[in-house]
Amino acid sequence: MKLVIRIGGSVVASPLNPKLIREYADLLTKLKSEGHELVVVVGGGKAARLYVQAAKELDLPEKEQDLVAIFVTRLVAWLLARKLGEKTCEKIPETIEDAEKCLKRNRIVVMGGLKPGMTTDTVAALLAQKLKADMLIKATNQDGIYTMDPKKHPEAKLLENIKFEDLDKIFEKAEHEAGIHQILDSEATKILKKTKMKTVVLNGYNPKNILKAVKGEKIGTIIQ
Ligand code: UTP
Repeated sequence: MKLVIRIGGSVVASPLNPKLIREYADLLTKLKSEGHELVVVVGGGKAARLYVQAAKELDLPEKEQDLVAIFVTRLVAWLLARKLGEKTCEKIPETIEDAEKCLKRNRIVVMGGLKPGMTTDTVAALLAQKLKADMLIKATNQDGIYTMDPKKHPEAKLLENIKFEDLDKIFEKAEHEAGIHQILDSEATKILKKTKMKTVVLNGYNPKNILKAVKGEKIGTIIQ
């Protein structure tokens, strides 16, 4: 299968977690050896937010605040890529075309952000669309998508299977609740819905969850 895997910065980089990055390198190696084509998009997490805050305090324009965050996403991506060594490309892809070329060389694509004004969710969705992926997996810091923000509502239920149309309704309802909306960026959701991309949102602290999603087993929230 062709897989786009989006690893949350909140998972591997808040704070930086070399043990988990190593586990991801092992997991990606395993998936590659099974014949899967892999495109990995890594976020910047807490460090990205720190740099954005500093850029803000320096009165840098918004575009430059985003650019500094993109540098951080690429820095985290670089760590994972170097751990994978020759299984990846020498340089972190900075465009969709770079990613396409790297994938054509039969390498694992590991990258961060693309350009200001978007999130790494959108980068992952664009890549999934352009490269005609079979599935997008988002490895995040909670077990999946809940009916309500689980941090505020203990009665919130994990949604195991939902349709994109229903996702819109859940996000609409939760519009005023920071947190739930962020689990899958709305711009990314639009692209995924349009392309009918099978998407699985799961807990990224256990990379083995990704193996389950690839095998089609029940894990996290499956959106299709
Ligand atoms: P994200 O907020 O997408 O990454 O990107 P993250 O840290 O993985 O998020 P979690 O773990 O889901 O919380 C970090 C920031 O980088 C900039 C944006 O400012 C974004 O908020 N960015 C990222 C861009 O400007 N363009 C990109 O293509 C990617």
